[in-house]
Amino acid sequence: MYPLLFSLLLKRLDPERAHHLGFALIRLVARVPGLRSLVAALLAPSRSQRRALATEALGLRMRGPFGLAAGFDKNAVGIDGLTMLGFDHVEIGTVTAHAQSGNPTPRLFRLVADRALVNRMGFNNEGSAAVAARLAKRRAVFPATVGVNIGKTKVTPESEAADDYATSARRLAPHADYLVVNVSSPNTPGLRNLQATEHLRPLLTAVRSAADAAVPDRRVPLLVKIAPDLADEDVDAVADLAVELGLDGIIATNTTIARDGLGLTTDRAEIEAVGAGGLSGAPLKERSLEVLRRLYARVGDRVTLIGVGGVRTADDVWERVLAGATLVQGYSAFVYEGPLWCRRVHRGLAARLAASPYATLAEAVGADTRKVTSR
Ligand SMILES: Cc1cc2nc3c(=O)[nH]c(=O)nc-3n(C[C@H](O)[C@H](O)[C@H](O)COP(=O)(O)O)c2cc1C
Repeated sequence: MYPLLFSLLLKRLDPERAHHLGFALIRLVARVPGLRSLVAALLAPSRSQRRALATEALGLRMRGPFGLAAGFDKNAVGIDGLTMLGFDHVEIGTVTAHAQSGNPTPRLFRLVADRALVNRMGFNNEGSAAVAARLAKRRAVFPATVGVNIGKTKVTPESEAADDYATSARRLAPHADYLVVNVSSPNTPGLRNLQATEHLRPLLTAVRSAADAAVPDRRVPLLVKIAPDLADEDVDAVADLAVELGLDGIIATNTTIARDGLGLTTDRAEIEAVGAGGLSGAPLKERSLEVLRRLYARVGDRVTLIGVGGVRTADDVWERVLAGATLVQGYSAFVYEGPLWCRRVHRGLAARLAASPYATLAEAVGADTRKVTSR
């Protein structure tokens, strides 16, 4: 049904319009009491699958390991609807200290033949004060795990980045199950320079202090999200820094600025016409997985890893778990797979686990990477 809807209608719409339309529909359904419970029940895993998938990560109990990556719900307007569809956690944002409109449109493109997207949204969002107010007022319909992803306001100079992030952290930490410092989007000039440890160390320290000051009675888990385009030594440096600072987690990865070496089948001219931006979806899979493996080999279970980038099937999720991810996220495949995506992933994942030598998902985390590194 969804593939038909996609090829007959959605594919013909401008991608950003299609996003707004689809998201509005999800939110609408989530506002109708009987209907939302029905949809949630239809999409939820069975009781035995739920038992198998239940996950503990970052000191939080979650329904399962599979969440929606940042960027879909930038302003935290649809957490219930997304939870209704089966996402085990929803990462909202990226939110910046000041509201901003992002880059001029068009800024979101589909490479359908490659099951990929290219975006140069540029952190369009209502700003951390407005998003914090919305989260404070929120009455959750479905119990949800909410991650909050923060980034730098475009007009804030790099030298004042730490203050900008700390402002958002102070406002948003009270409403966050976990907090993510995003230093890896390619669409804010200079942002990715903040991944260098000499910038990242003071930045993460400032955000940690701001979160602790804002929420004295709870240690809000703090994570950093990195780019797939980092050189291997830089991935190692971030891993070492995470251990040094006692960071709770690393999210690997954001979108890539690469176009070569990804095996893209889309016409070269079409790719060039799309222009700059971060590429996500299937072609990102190999590099994201490689970064994840590298991180796990370095940090083991000292830092929680979230695997993201090119994840589509239950097998992809399972592969990330075996590589070292305690949690796994996706975004682009949601566009191509539609509303039954989580249901398919959950069923397949529970089956994978049942057929494996591992009793729990937690036991499977990193099993493949451990085999390789202990050889
Ligand atoms: C349209 C779009 C917007 C995104 N916006 C953000 C964002 O605001 N912050 C962020 O950390 N990642 C953002 N991402 C990156 C995703 O969270 C994810 O890391 C990336 O798309 C790779 O996963 P995927 O291949 O499953 O899409 C965005 C991705 C897309 C496609």
